[in-house]
Amino acid sequence: MSSRPLLLGVNIDHAATLRQARYRGAHLSPHAEPDVVAFTREALAGGADGITLHLREDRRHIQDADVHAIAAIPGVRLNLEMACTPAMTAFALQLKPAAVCLVPESREEVTTEGGLDVAGQLTRVRETTHALKAAGIEVSLFIGPEAPQIEAAVAVGAPVIELHTGAFANAWKSPVADAELERLRAGCELAHRHGLIVNAGHGINYDNIRAILTLPHLHELNIGHSIVAHALFTGIRGAVAEMKAHLAKQA
Ligand code: PXP
Repeated sequence: MSSRPLLLGVNIDHAATLRQARYRGAHLSPHAEPDVVAFTREALAGGADGITLHLREDRRHIQDADVHAIAAIPGVRLNLEMACTPAMTAFALQLKPAAVCLVPESREEVTTEGGLDVAGQLTRVRETTHALKAAGIEVSLFIGPEAPQIEAAVAVGAPVIELHTGAFANAWKSPVADAELERLRAGCELAHRHGLIVNAGHGINYDNIRAILTLPHLHELNIGHSIVAHALFTGIRGAVAEMKAHLAKQA
């Protein structure tokens, strides 16, 4: 347990997914809805500590114009998820968000399926990490809780990791859920021993959050799908406030 409040980064990608379902190629139309910037403002009003968005190479949800418009919201702490490519690095160096989270990307996946293989591409991730850090951007690597990946994150000089909670979320309420949670726990402990800041995300919802909150040394959770889905019933402001209330229970 930590004395600091656990932060909530709200991933707003799926507000853009809904817009793109009708307005692909016309997201700048005055008729395009939902308004992703207004949605973001409401998420902030609900207590989001940061806004996370993933500018995918295939631009399937968030568009470049969304990133620029959201980055211009006064006081927003923007965490840009992106692939570890020269094109995305150039984009980030121009934008200078507060944080970048490097994620793996393949066009066929429905969402980000696995962690970044940092150990398997040390040079590439190290160069990208150094370039982003030199521009004053906080760099996080989205990885599984395996020791070689955590040690590789240390080796490339990343100050932050985001542990991929997807395997645990998929296993939730199954016989292997406890084992997945323990894998995450071991990952949190190891990363903390190495001096890394530990975030977590993927598949976290209003139910499995209670297990996630038992993990040690967490700094920030990034949650998207479940909050946006809940917002269909409550509005995004209420959905974020409800998740924040869960996080406050950790203190
Ligand atoms: N963190 C990262 C790095 C992700 O890629 C995603 C999915 O875009 C999330 C968090 C949020 O996952 P979910 O939408 O399942 O809450």
